[in-house]
Amino acid sequence: MPDSSETAQIAEQYIINKEPYYRNVADEIDMYQAAYDARMPVMLKGPTGCGKSRFVEHMAWKLKKPLITVACNEDMTASDLVGRFLLDINGTKWQDGPLTVAARIGAICYLDEVVEARQDTTVVIHPLTDHRRVLPLEKKGELVEAHPDFQIVISYNPGYQSLMKDLKQSTKQRFAALDFDYPESGIEAEIIAHEAGTDAATADKLVQVAQRSRNLKGHGLDEGISTRLLVYAAQLINKGINPSDACKMALVRPLTDDPDMRDTLDAAVATYF
Ligand SMILES: Nc1ncnc2c1ncn2[C@@H]1O[C@H](COP(=O)(O)OP(=O)(O)OP(=O)(O)O)[C@@H](O)[C@H]1O
Ligand SMILES: [Mg+2]
Repeated sequence: MPDSSETAQIAEQYIINKEPYYRNVADEIDMYQAAYDARMPVMLKGPTGCGKSRFVEHMAWKLKKPLITVACNEDMTASDLVGRFLLDINGTKWQDGPLTVAARIGAICYLDEVVEARQDTTVVIHPLTDHRRVLPLEKKGELVEAHPDFQIVISYNPGYQSLMKDLKQSTKQRFAALDFDYPESGIEAEIIAHEAGTDAATADKLVQVAQRSRNLKGHGLDEGISTRLLVYAAQLINKGINPSDACKMALVRPLTDDPDMRDTLDAAVATYF
């Protein structure tokens, strides 16, 4: 087990020193702050590219807490989160996984796309997310008590859930949840202008194209154009790419392979650019 100076050194690596730009959309900053004060596990729900990761980075910076992010996938095992014995020349050596490191150093542990993980993997977070705040390392025979600053945050895209890929109620009901969505047009344009350094008029038009696509969700599109893609389009425009080509490359082509849908979206782009 690492001593306290070692712990501080590890924590330092995960501290965010420069403010990540985050434009609040409603009262999510205060709500999260209150949840953090209670060390309550938090779930961020919302579509891809709407600002969930950026929000956590911003909050970790604001709270001056280390942030450890884990991208979850279906091949991930409990050992990938908790840790495992590794073989080296001197025999076997225990290596903490990211969840264990976060619990020891008092980090915010962000499990991104947690539904992707299998349910038998997800349950390892249970003892950390209720009053116990412990993590049993069964293979090592150690019970890690979470540092007082430790908190778990998970992200979740409700759009993609299927019966096979959903969180168990016993997992869901360990979290308070904040809903995220693409921001209202004025705010979204402000974000794009800030992120890509484009003018307000271009940002406005990009948002209008995105809104057209979002109306097609469920009518041929699985998901509308995200804020992330709008930032890409604005960045291409800023590099001197013709706006209509930039929109095709950053907004339309990534979204769909269906020729009719592409025509529909290209036409929407043509109305504005
Ligand atoms: N409220 C916001 N403030 C600042 N930037 C934002 C905001 N919302 C979206 N963005 C921009 O959109 C990009 C994508 O956001 P982010 O990576 O946080 O999405 P996400 O919700 O985590 O998506 P995914 O579910 O795919 O991981 C950011 O890099 C940032 O440029
Ligand atoms: Mg993310």
